[in-house]
Amino acid sequence: MSSEKPKTNCSVIILAAGKGTRMHSDTPKVLHKIAGKAMLAHVVEAAKALEPDALVVVLAPHMDAVKAEIQKIYPSCLFAIQEEQKGTGHAVACGMELLKGAEGDVLVAYGDTPLVRGETFAALLSEKQRHAATIALAGIYLENPTGYGRLVMKSEPYVECIVECKDASAEQKKIRWGWGGVMAFDAAFLHDGLKRLAPSPATGEYYLTALLELATAKGEKNLMVEMSVTEAMGVNDRVQLAEAEAALQARLREAAMKKGVTLVAPDTVFLATDTQFGRDVVVHPHVVFGSGVVVGDRVEIKSFSHVEQAAIGAGSVVGPYARLRPGASLAENVHIGNFVEIKKSNIAKGAKINHLSYVGDAEVGAGANIGAGTITCNYDGTNKYQTVIEEGAFIGSNTSLVAPVKVGAGAIIGAGSVITEDVPADALSFERSEQTTKPERAKIMREAK
Ligand code: UD1
Ligand code: CA
Repeated sequence: MSSEKPKTNCSVIILAAGKGTRMHSDTPKVLHKIAGKAMLAHVVEAAKALEPDALVVVLAPHMDAVKAEIQKIYPSCLFAIQEEQKGTGHAVACGMELLKGAEGDVLVAYGDTPLVRGETFAALLSEKQRHAATIALAGIYLENPTGYGRLVMKSEPYVECIVECKDASAEQKKIRWGWGGVMAFDAAFLHDGLKRLAPSPATGEYYLTALLELATAKGEKNLMVEMSVTEAMGVNDRVQLAEAEAALQARLREAAMKKGVTLVAPDTVFLATDTQFGRDVVVHPHVVFGSGVVVGDRVEIKSFSHVEQAAIGAGSVVGPYARLRPGASLAENVHIGNFVEIKKSNIAKGAKINHLSYVGDAEVGAGANIGAGTITCNYDGTNKYQTVIEEGAFIGSNTSLVAPVKVGAGAIIGAGSVITEDVPADALSFERSEQTTKPERAKIMREAK
């Protein structure tokens, strides 16, 4: 498929009202996530790239959670409610209620095909235009087309009709061309055709795919445009959800590597669609990125680290076994070592937190050294408080910093201290009871046993 931007007007309808019965879930199917983002949100993002005149998402009643999720990424999105799930044709008719004045093309996509790309929508529309077709639909050529509507073609690439899998004869089931779930229509044809749809005798549902027969009867052209099988993956159950996740991860890993990221064991690294990498980043095996991560140049992330909504400055080293939680922001050349958790904290240039620490709601100054087992005690059960550690401070091992508290620049804290009061710059502060040592006592105790 080529991918010039189509020249005619277009509107988009995305169907998401299906029950999703096969997911066996209390969550609407389209809110199940892949690469950390709701399936429907992936499809909406792809449609957004078309800059459509209008975008309508068709929902079932009581899907306010879906609406809220989509409004975050596409505030001007329109929502149509399909009161009863009477099939995909009926769902599109509900969407068209909001597009009565639509001109040009109407593109229909399904909220459960999260891998589809904006380029594919654009290519379908431009091919439709080039061939002056009334309908253009994405075709996939499959090893095993079970579950997909079959494309009946007398002369390729023109489609006579689509036979749904449930309604197909044994002969039709052998057709390996399936419909990938993306179709574009002349708006005028769609308005008219939807009024004339009859329910399927087998299931009683109004199929969108039945529109092809109507078009063929009127002598219209239905053009098939081939689409990649991966992009068309429809998610109906959790096995397919995992397959779609795997396919999307493969796509994201490949894109990252092609841009210059070394993934030592790509199959073990999990990315989000918005993960951003600088140059010459090295990611070791078994690292997970949630959404909102920005990684600077020359960063090394060692095994078994988990990073989300965090920024890692150039030249920093993270892990193994590190956890960067939302709001962790590391400047250049920061070292975060094993079993260190950072939350909502700015760690300035060259600071080191190398072992077994929790740093939350903190400002850590440039070059500060935070010893093993340091904990910022940021929470009293009700409120959160800030810890400030200024430039060049040295925090001895096993220190508890009871926030709100500030350690001045260049100050040293003795190991094992519980620091509850501010420490001025360049001071030495420690808090511990005196050590008691009784010579020979251990030996005496042992002998007494
Ligand atoms: C559908 C197609 C099939 C195609 C496949 C591609 C129809 C009749 N069949 O089958 O030809 O090969 O997708 O993935 O279109 N929905 C509603 N309201 C309804 C019914 C469904 O909004 O009343 C929505 C669902 O939320 C879903 C989409 O429409 O997003 C497709 O429905 P689904 O039941 O998953 O259709 P498939 O059996 O996968
Ligand atoms: Ca489906």
